[in-house]
Amino acid sequence: MQQTVIHADGLRRSFGAFEAVKGVSFQVSEGQFIGLLGPNGAGKTTTMRMIMGMTKPSGGTLDVFGVPSHTIGRGEKARIGLVPQEDNLDPDLSVRQNLEVYGTYFGLPHDVIQERVDTLLRFMELSEKKENDVRALSGGMKRRLIIARALIADPDLVILDEPTTGLDPQARVLIWQRLLALKSQGKTILLTTHYMDEAQRLCDRIIVIDGGRVLDEGSPKELIARHVEEHVFELQKPLPKGIEKLDIRSEDIGDTALFYTDDAARLRNFLKADMVYLHRPANLEDVFLKLTGRKLREV
Ligand SMILES: Nc1ncnc2c1ncn2[C@@H]1O[C@H](COP(=O)(O)OP(=O)(O)O)[C@@H](O)[C@H]1O
Ligand SMILES: [Mg+2]
Repeated sequence: MQQTVIHADGLRRSFGAFEAVKGVSFQVSEGQFIGLLGPNGAGKTTTMRMIMGMTKPSGGTLDVFGVPSHTIGRGEKARIGLVPQEDNLDPDLSVRQNLEVYGTYFGLPHDVIQERVDTLLRFMELSEKKENDVRALSGGMKRRLIIARALIADPDLVILDEPTTGLDPQARVLIWQRLLALKSQGKTILLTTHYMDEAQRLCDRIIVIDGGRVLDEGSPKELIARHVEEHVFELQKPLPKGIEKLDIRSEDIGDTALFYTDDAARLRNFLKADMVYLHRPANLEDVFLKLTGRKLREV
């Protein structure tokens, strides 16, 4: 039987009069790779901080490894590795020392720490940087070091808050490979990301939240099937005359209009052969924008 690693039920968190998390319920089982998706301000980081025991819930229940999250001690904390949204490496320490400090915090023996530092630096392709100043690392290397640091106590649950934001494609791909390797080792992974292709590629299950509430959850495939038609046609304006008579769900996004349909042949036949358009399968981004809207969220 798979163990439940995280069990949130009616979880709430207020900051003064403002309620950032408004009754969120979900479960995460051992070995699952879960994506927590939502626009800026949705409540993702607050939820993750509650799971880590860094912020106390204002209401509802939240058990992590069967224990209320805000009561977990250092022993259980060692079972959770955190990659925070912000870079919080110690700039005065070397790459190696940044890892050692965490190993010491979790009370690991010296020789175990040394062995893990070498293994993790190799795993994250940072071995050559071992004695470097962290200030000299690129953005991608810093993210990789923070991931290595989260793994120092060999946690069962790894929580990553936007680990690939702002990274170039090469750096993202390396992190994807490493996260999939962690999953194949049996670790449970909770990830937030703004990259829908990343979530679609990596996650077994997605939880979409906005305004502190869960909007829906399911596998990427399930969510796509539930919320959007199978095919998307992206058409440049001006649109061909009479297209509205086809009565196809569409969305106006400025210079372009998106048409969503399960009957691709019908729309393709209508569009003239010389008309330029993009025909693609519906994806998680279509689901995300349908559920959360297109309004900009600037926090
Ligand atoms: N310590 C805090 N004090 C006041 N408001 C906060 C605090 N932390 C988060 N918030 C607010 O709670 C909401 C959710 O924030 P957050 O969980 O960081 O969202 P996300 O990570 O999804 O972008 C935002 O409106 C944010 O401004
Ligand atoms: Mg956040």
